[in-house]
Amino acid sequence: MKVHVAVVQTNPIFGEVKKNIQDALDLMETVKADLYVLPELFNTGYNFIDQKESIALAEEAGGMTCKMLCKFTKKQMCYIAYGFAEKADTIYNSSSLIGPEGFIGVYRKVHLFYRENILFAPGNLGFPVFDLPFGKIGMMICFDWLYPESTRSLALKGAQLVAHPSNLVLPYCPDGMVTRALENKVFTATADRVGEENRGGIDLKFIGTSEIVAPDGKILFRLGKSEPAIGVVDIDFSLADKKQINEYNHLLKGRRPDQYSL
Ligand code: ACM
Repeated sequence: MKVHVAVVQTNPIFGEVKKNIQDALDLMETVKADLYVLPELFNTGYNFIDQKESIALAEEAGGMTCKMLCKFTKKQMCYIAYGFAEKADTIYNSSSLIGPEGFIGVYRKVHLFYRENILFAPGNLGFPVFDLPFGKIGMMICFDWLYPESTRSLALKGAQLVAHPSNLVLPYCPDGMVTRALENKVFTATADRVGEENRGGIDLKFIGTSEIVAPDGKILFRLGKSEPAIGVVDIDFSLADKKQINEYNHLLKGRRPDQYSL
């Protein structure tokens, strides 16, 4: 069974939540997919000056963003993974998975990057995997990629595709994801944003280059560095189940946790 997976590369304007959601929806309307992956904090923008701002723009998992996107998932019978500032017992940098049935589940970013450490609490839900009609989906957010334990945790739980909402500012991730996909034999779908946010004396430029990588490390497509865009590819999820490398080596069964110092 072929599954159409899309990554949506947007250029959010800080604080313009409704416009940012509508811009993403406008791009999504141009391409039919079973699963759309949107960037980290795609609705609010990224460069919060202080915690007052992240608190003010945070939403509960079932909040306005979820409601607006759920109209699309119901109409199109599809799924969306998207990043947002989550208001719960405290404020998290989270991503939600929603579908035709509405809210499915949330992931809270475990490895916070740079000033996120003063804006958000670190994630406390581990790395959950969700069983969708076409396959098993895990989520991680942006900087989580640099910790191989994130993708490996999802692969060990059976994820076939890792949805990876991102707001990349360093140049290493797009090439690095080739290794994350290959060393776990999973598909990865990194949805980055473009543009620049200069706020409170801190200027951040986002690198775009959203991409989908296959379990053999092949980059199925990579978007440009500076323009909003959407990319879609047909994926055979069962390719992520082939963990046998040769008759002696199984990728996951060959692990030697007794020899690791983790
Ligand atoms: C990042 O984690 N947003 C770089």
